[in-house]
Amino acid sequence: VTSRNLAVIGGDGIGPEVVAEGLKVLQAVTPGSFSLTSYDLGAERWKRTGEVLPDSVLTELAAADGILFGAVGAAPGDKTMPSGILERGLILKIRFAFDHYVNLRPSRIYPGVPTPLADSVTAGKEVDFVVVREGTEGLYVGNGGVVRAGTPAEIATEVSVNTAYGVERVVRDAFARAARRRGKITLVHKHNVLVHAGGLWNRIFETVAAEYPDVTTDYLHIDAATIFMATDPARFDVIVTDNLFGDIITDLAGAVTGGIGLAASGNINPEGAFPSMFEPVHGSAPDIAGQGIADPTATILSVGLLLDHLGLAEEAGRIEKAVLADVSRRSAGTKRSTSEIGDAIASAV
Ligand code: IPM
Ligand code: MN
Repeated sequence: VTSRNLAVIGGDGIGPEVVAEGLKVLQAVTPGSFSLTSYDLGAERWKRTGEVLPDSVLTELAAADGILFGAVGAAPGDKTMPSGILERGLILKIRFAFDHYVNLRPSRIYPGVPTPLADSVTAGKEVDFVVVREGTEGLYVGNGGVVRAGTPAEIATEVSVNTAYGVERVVRDAFARAARRRGKITLVHKHNVLVHAGGLWNRIFETVAAEYPDVTTDYLHIDAATIFMATDPARFDVIVTDNLFGDIITDLAGAVTGGIGLAASGNINPEGAFPSMFEPVHGSAPDIAGQGIADPTATILSVGLLLDHLGLAEEAGRIEKAVLADVSRRSAGTKRSTSEIGDAIASAV
């Protein structure tokens, strides 16, 4: 087995706690096949040194085969850490620098896992879908500005950037996934209002659809998509959407499929020109940090996505299976610690 280099960014709050369990499971399923390098990044580093992501670190990360990321962020009331510094300077900087245009966010309802959905919504139905969220464009690029700042005439603009190149490559990736899955794809946008960007997405979606006669296509406006996410999530197989709509719909998807503690994600550069980064969808949860009670499952599932991306599908499948067995056995009354959950899954893989 050739050794692969995994860069590890635990981050803040519960980030390092859940990442430790992800690594435990990685080691159990692929003993000795990864060499790990840890990077100290996040709110604590910024407070200590004023650095968010030094160029030298970005260069080192670029040489890794993959990145496992926990979570970053200070406590919500912490005024010493201004909003946006870590989000733009670390997470988005990595996604953009490494061209992570596929932000892959799978969701499924594991048997036995409680969800807030009505029984009638889930009874006899399988909920198992992936959101392919565009990761490098849209409203996230920081295109805009403020004029007459601080005056009553202040104007702030945030202009969404959608290129034919960027939309086509992510739509193609999503169609390919749909063809490998149940053959259904839903474009989510808001082209009745966002006519410029929506028009581009629609046109490219239709063009690519013509190459996939066996894939059934569907379109939903983002607002309607949130209704169906709550009333009939089983209708979804692959959802493809832009950066911000994808951000929002995947939090909702996590919530309706058993909670954000199970929501995994991959920031993927499919061509492998740059390392891809895998992270739980949840944040650093400062309120429960240090207590050993965070659920590491989303991070463990993210390790599965990492292995799958690196071509270790069999190993990824073992993680998925072990998690399925573990979460199905969980019951409301019994609380296990972060490391107990990690131990259980690690010994089951
Ligand atoms: C996510 C997060 C990030 C996003 C933030 C922290 C930049 O919410 O990964 O979903 O908006 O993409
Ligand atoms: Mn989000």
